[in-house]
Amino acid sequence: MAHYAVRESPPLRGEIPISTSKNAVLPIMCGALLTGGDVRIEKAPDLTDVRTLTALLRSCGCGVKREKDALIFNAESVNGAGDEESARRMRASVLILGPLLSRLGQARIALPGGCAIGQRPIDQHLKGMSALGAKIRMDHGGVTLTGHLRGATIYLDMPSVGATENLLMAATLAKGTTRIENAAKEPEVVDLANFLSAMGAHISGAGTSTITIEGVSSLHGVSWTPIEDRVEAGTMACACAITGGELLLRGARAEHLRSLLFKLSESGVHIKDTPTGLMVFGRAKQPFEIRTMVYPGFPTDLQAPMMAVACRTPGTSVFLETIFENRFMHAAELMRLGAHIRVENRVAVVEGTPQLTGAHVRATDLRAGAALILAGLCAEGETIVDDAGGHIDRGYDRIEEKLSAVGGLVRRIERTA
Ligand code: UD1
Repeated sequence: MAHYAVRESPPLRGEIPISTSKNAVLPIMCGALLTGGDVRIEKAPDLTDVRTLTALLRSCGCGVKREKDALIFNAESVNGAGDEESARRMRASVLILGPLLSRLGQARIALPGGCAIGQRPIDQHLKGMSALGAKIRMDHGGVTLTGHLRGATIYLDMPSVGATENLLMAATLAKGTTRIENAAKEPEVVDLANFLSAMGAHISGAGTSTITIEGVSSLHGVSWTPIEDRVEAGTMACACAITGGELLLRGARAEHLRSLLFKLSESGVHIKDTPTGLMVFGRAKQPFEIRTMVYPGFPTDLQAPMMAVACRTPGTSVFLETIFENRFMHAAELMRLGAHIRVENRVAVVEGTPQLTGAHVRATDLRAGAALILAGLCAEGETIVDDAGGHIDRGYDRIEEKLSAVGGLVRRIERTA
């Protein structure tokens, strides 16, 4: 838990190494439950979400060791129920259901609670598991799945990232062929499919809307380096668009960030794709319109950082949030810094202003917290971002160090509970 003290900063210059992706690492960690062999995840980011999921996997009987920046999992003797407290703390805990059910014929977790950015139900996960032959019982705040899985055709009502990943993992050890239709196409889904294939799974079509999985009788251990974090890279690109300057985002891939890069270019920021990463130059000068969509549309996780950019960009920018029903909580906090924003249901209209002024603001969720730090970089005086909820540490590995290394005036102040 920390506060961040941010001061108006000069143009950012230098290099930021992009960490491995939180949203790729979490499902891959759950995938380790599918085998009794060792699964080694290289460059595992040091994030609270990774630690919470590690605790949950340990509570299921999975061995976990850290060796420098690698995490090594061994799920030889695993049981079908995880610790309730860890499961309730993070939504991605639901991703242990598919692997445990597929491997053991049973799985139970406490239902992940509601979440600040929306209701986030798991009906698509459960509908898919039921199509694969699972019996589902809800009781005492949890869900229990039992049954030996058989391949089936599953149609998702919406291309949910988590449901696609959970069902993909469940289907690897199911008997026969599974087709997931209207599947999510996010790069993290593709990385998970590649990881499972390296463990011996038979998967085709990942990255398209239909994924086909031929069940196999067992999977083996593997060593894997997950893809880089496109949301962290996108957040840092937004930081440059706010202060101006010149950043090399080492390891970032343009192919995963097309929608953001188009928007930044339209706004006057220069982008160059190089073999070592993405180069971003200059400040946003023109307003823009953002509609969040599933991949390859504009990612909802970068909506808040782009709103921070819009606050200082001359003209009227418009945001339409189509993925989550309550994801504009950062707007009220940005307004405390002097931003001009009107929110009506799922639309936010931002009038760029030449001057923001530092104030005490609150991180209401992970990406909102990052957006407030970015806004603080261009606000006169000092901005204190209060992250009593520990949101930023869930998904950004040492954000203050990375920004400070390129000239951002950001300090972390530890809080005692
Ligand atoms: C993942 C990402 C998160 C990102 C989101 C959307 C991880 C760990 N998290 O979350 O950072 O913001 O994708 O890109 O990878 N839905 C249902 N029923 C379901 C499942 C989802 O109605 O069973 C709805 C959700 O409420 C939401 C939408 O579908 O409105 C998208 O959710 P989903 O794609 O599942 O997101 P997550 O996997 O939770």
